[in-house]
Amino acid sequence: MKISDSMTAAINDQIKAEFDSAYIYLAMSAYLKDAGLDGMSHWMHKQYKEEVEHAEKFISYLYERGARVIIPDIAKPKDTYENALEVFRTAYAHEQYVTSRIYKLVDLAVSEKDYATQSMLKWYVDEQMEEEDNTGGIVSKLEFLGGDKHGVYTVDRELASR
Ligand code: FEO
Repeated sequence: MKISDSMTAAINDQIKAEFDSAYIYLAMSAYLKDAGLDGMSHWMHKQYKEEVEHAEKFISYLYERGARVIIPDIAKPKDTYENALEVFRTAYAHEQYVTSRIYKLVDLAVSEKDYATQSMLKWYVDEQMEEEDNTGGIVSKLEFLGGDKHGVYTVDRELASR
């Protein structure tokens, strides 16, 4: 069964959102590096790479369905933050936003009875749960520390092992 034009457009839009996410995290990684938080910068750089993989997975899916992929413009990300806590709070809020986008894609696939897309999207639903858990967990730790420098450096070392 051919994928619909509306589903193709929605997935292309999500490809843009994944590349935008990648850039947001790359800019966060650069900010953290400049702040001397190498472990957090490394963690965020891995996040950047994961977002590129998310975009590529959608691209492969559209290829598989014989649909046209549109390579999007990428928005310039915010590149200055107050501190590490603001970075991770922003990342957490961003992941919640991405989850809401994925759910809308599922809603569309269900409304179109597009079972193949529903099946493909299950991976993203699970991935979003994990991403929210990871970023939310770091926010909780940093909030608990309340800016204590020794604590922040301990979290920084921990995130270096990702
Ligand atoms: Fe591709 Fe972090 O969602």
